[in-house]
Amino acid sequence: MIPKETIEKIFDAADIVEVINDFVNLKKAGSNYKGNSPFSDDKTPSFMVSPAKGIFKDFSSGEGGTVVSFLMKHEHFTYPEALRWLAKRYNIEIEEEERTPEQMAAQSARESLYLVNQFAKDYFAKQILESQEGKAIGLSYFKERGYNDVTIKKFELGYSPNNSSALTKAALSAGYKLEYLEKTGLSKTNEKGSFDFFRGRVIFPIHNLTGRILGFGGRTLKTDKKIAKYFNSPESEIYHKSKVLFGLYQAKGAIIKKDTCYLVEGYTDVVSLNQAGIENVVASSGTALTEGQIKLVKRYTNNITILYDGDSAGIKASFRGIDLILEQGMNVKVILFPDGEDPDSYSKKVGITELEEYLHNEAKDFIRFKASVLLTDAKDDPLKRAETIKDIVKSIAIIPDQIIRSVYIRETSQFFDISEKALLSEVNKILANKRSSHSQEQRQQIEAVKPLAPIQKRGSSDGSHSLSDQEKDLIRLMLTYGSIGIQVEIEAQESEEIKKEEIPLAQYIIEELLSDDLKYVNETYQSIFDEFLDGIENGLIVNDQHFFQKEEATLSSLVVDLTMPKDSVSENWEKKHRIYPQEERHKLKQAAVESVYMYKLRVTENMINGKQTGLKEEIEEKEIYSLLEQIKQLNQIRNTFASKLGIIITR
Ligand code: CTP
Ligand code: MN
Repeated sequence: MIPKETIEKIFDAADIVEVINDFVNLKKAGSNYKGNSPFSDDKTPSFMVSPAKGIFKDFSSGEGGTVVSFLMKHEHFTYPEALRWLAKRYNIEIEEEERTPEQMAAQSARESLYLVNQFAKDYFAKQILESQEGKAIGLSYFKERGYNDVTIKKFELGYSPNNSSALTKAALSAGYKLEYLEKTGLSKTNEKGSFDFFRGRVIFPIHNLTGRILGFGGRTLKTDKKIAKYFNSPESEIYHKSKVLFGLYQAKGAIIKKDTCYLVEGYTDVVSLNQAGIENVVASSGTALTEGQIKLVKRYTNNITILYDGDSAGIKASFRGIDLILEQGMNVKVILFPDGEDPDSYSKKVGITELEEYLHNEAKDFIRFKASVLLTDAKDDPLKRAETIKDIVKSIAIIPDQIIRSVYIRETSQFFDISEKALLSEVNKILANKRSSHSQEQRQQIEAVKPLAPIQKRGSSDGSHSLSDQEKDLIRLMLTYGSIGIQVEIEAQESEEIKKEEIPLAQYIIEELLSDDLKYVNETYQSIFDEFLDGIENGLIVNDQHFFQKEEATLSSLVVDLTMPKDSVSENWEKKHRIYPQEERHKLKQAAVESVYMYKLRVTENMINGKQTGLKEEIEEKEIYSLLEQIKQLNQIRNTFASKLGIIITR
């Protein structure tokens, strides 16, 4: 946890113009940049920056935010990663927040596991470069497989001596505790003492996204079929296999650049493809693909291509992986290698050009892939065909995006020469089933959202602002002018005198809403409102900066949208949001009162709409009269607000 004051310091120091310029220049400089490529070439962004507020808006993507959101987007950092990056750049020391003894113990235990792993990784790597045995056995094995020094270094490959406890002894004498050697699985202990888990094996370290070592895979050099080909580190507090992909640390830059990620089966497939020049490759390393692993890839691209051995018995099992990828809203393709070949062997057999051509030409979308697998030996069997189509339709129904679903339905229809309508109705049947498992309430909420009837504002042609627009407008006023005082009339309780008092605009709006017990419909706006409320209860008015320092990117992006200074914003934006800051700033009270009334008017209209919908349902006569009475009263209230606002009511 980075303490709040340090976060404030980082935001204060960070110069958004500087940081964005860095990235734009790096892009221009081309390939020298070692991190992730900041911008893909076709999408050069056009930034609008407000240095004073420390925010930007990217007009090519419509996204906006702070220097931290910028780094999160373009460097794919998490929130704390972005903060730490900035802290380093601006020489701000991060003193971690005080923790409970348990938290400290847990943190330092995890840290110790990382440190032990790092020691082991360095130890194994050193064997390959320096020890006789390491050079003669480990290095020559890798050379035989065609790996050069660059590749060996990139993956930090190593060798564990064929000695019962070489690493354990070295680590203990360097001061590492046996407890951590055991927890990482590097050492085992029996009645005779402690010994190494990996012995006489070449080592593939497994990195996390920042390059720290989570565990290892160790391949035997023996051909004896009875010996397990790989030993793998066990799960530990730092190594959760379902959330790790081998090679992702080395691949992430290339994945962004190519906007695709190749998924292979093993360590050697990853390393060999890299050696051949294909760097956007990761492996799930022997385990079945998990949702967590797919989400990792999704941070960098929306496209996954799975590469399979031609003779792989697990092809049908791969269908599950395909559905998992589809479920994440990602695109999936599959490439099968010729019989007996895997990516590793094939990349050695053919040159890079031929390999690239193969990857390019053989990639099949999941429909063609499933069809080709399921129909191999039963092309004309109508039952088999029907089953295959059903199977494919099930996968299509998993896709969250409706448009993409229709694209695949079209493709399936063409592929199998079957009507789109029939396929559509199959997919919809599955979807309807899914929907019925949602609660009644959830469905009602969805149906309840209906547009309101338009109302004309005097002198303005565009008055059709919804309730949500009004909620937004109130939030905008609070964010922009929240702490500025406005004069309000207050009825003193004892006497009936009317006093004038100056209160902050945010407080006025909050009190107006609380007095009528009103809650926002839009949850995001409500969460902003709640922050204001919290602040006021503690005697302070929060401002836009308060939200910029929050972790949720959607929130800060919204606040940027609402507070981007008007003079740096396009005309369209101004029109769309009806913002006339010059006037508004000088007539703040009027702006606030108008916005509050307009909001209440919309709330009332929403209630009327709700009641009118109620009338259409089959209800008892008595209830009809009661509803009609309520509607009449609400209409009166609405007209009061409307006349205060000078709105002509057209209904
Ligand atoms: N694997 C494992 N334990 C084994 C065999 C395999 O954990 N006993 C995992 C490893 O992550 C391995 C992957 O499954 O990388 C694929 O297995 P395989 O194709 O047999 O290994 P390769 O990595 O291709 O190794 P090689 O090319 O040397 O055969
Ligand atoms: Mn293999």
